[in-house]
Amino acid sequence: MDRIYSAVEFQATCENLRIGGKTIGLVPTMGALHGGHQQLIVNARRECDVVVVSVFVNALQFDNPGDLEKYPRTIEKDIEFAQTHGVDLVFTPDPEEMHPQPVLFHLEVDRLANILEGASRPGHFSGVVTVVSKLFILAGKCRAYFGEKDFQQVAVISRMVEEMHFPVEIVPVPIVREGTGLALSSRNMRLDSEQLVAAAALSRSLYAARDAVRNGEMDPGKIEVLMQRELGREINGIAKSNQPVLDYAVVVDPRTLLKPERIEGPVRLLLAAWVGEVRLIDNIAAQADR
Ligand code: PAJ
Repeated sequence: MDRIYSAVEFQATCENLRIGGKTIGLVPTMGALHGGHQQLIVNARRECDVVVVSVFVNALQFDNPGDLEKYPRTIEKDIEFAQTHGVDLVFTPDPEEMHPQPVLFHLEVDRLANILEGASRPGHFSGVVTVVSKLFILAGKCRAYFGEKDFQQVAVISRMVEEMHFPVEIVPVPIVREGTGLALSSRNMRLDSEQLVAAAALSRSLYAARDAVRNGEMDPGKIEVLMQRELGREINGIAKSNQPVLDYAVVVDPRTLLKPERIEGPVRLLLAAWVGEVRLIDNIAAQADR
């Protein structure tokens, strides 16, 4: 496995691989690699000749300096993880390499990025699309793998590729979960054992709402109230300070991310909640059983 630090070298390497007839699978990450990232790597491995993982904690997408500072950085372990899982190339640019200072250029996103995660984290998606567009420019024509764990991120990036004509095919990958239902996330490392138990309430609340949709509930308002109620239910044996605190729980059309008037086709249920000082997100697909 090769490791590249330099943007120009990364670009030239990808170009040479394509000239040699190889297809490239790109897996953009911020490191602290876990089973969720692994699934993206597995899918890329299956579908592409060369698997490239980028590891870069992108300061532009953090609206909160404390969150950026506390973001787990485990680069040596990540390199080992990538090697074990059959990655061919790891791109680990320095911050100055990726975003030469002072940063004068940002991509801005309308509508899709001002709601949900974007409303709770102003500037977040601008930071995401700015770094992802740089990665796409460097990698060139490729397939790029993104987890549905960040459902809005996949929607925003898919739209960017379409609108900006990047020669990139976006491949969404289903969410990987713990046995408890908790979606794998680098942020889970910041949860203690009690908080890990509390965090399982997010997926429980999604499953309950999905079942209600399956059973024919067509009113999105009622589904949202159900998710709020499930998440707000006090969990026995968990300190008050560790009970989950809801940020949002919504029913959306999976393409527009807007709330439908009635649930008549497939919808996506999305929620965000705090457990202690850690903000977690999760989502699930839902549709009425016919
Ligand atoms: P990061 O949080 O490291 O996630 C990298 C990729 O792994 C994302 O596409 C994310 O959706 C996916 N992922 C994380 N947990 C997952 C899970 N449990 N199941 C399936 N996929 C999962 O997302 C980012 O980094 C950044 O915003 C990035 C796109 C790299 C831009 O900086």
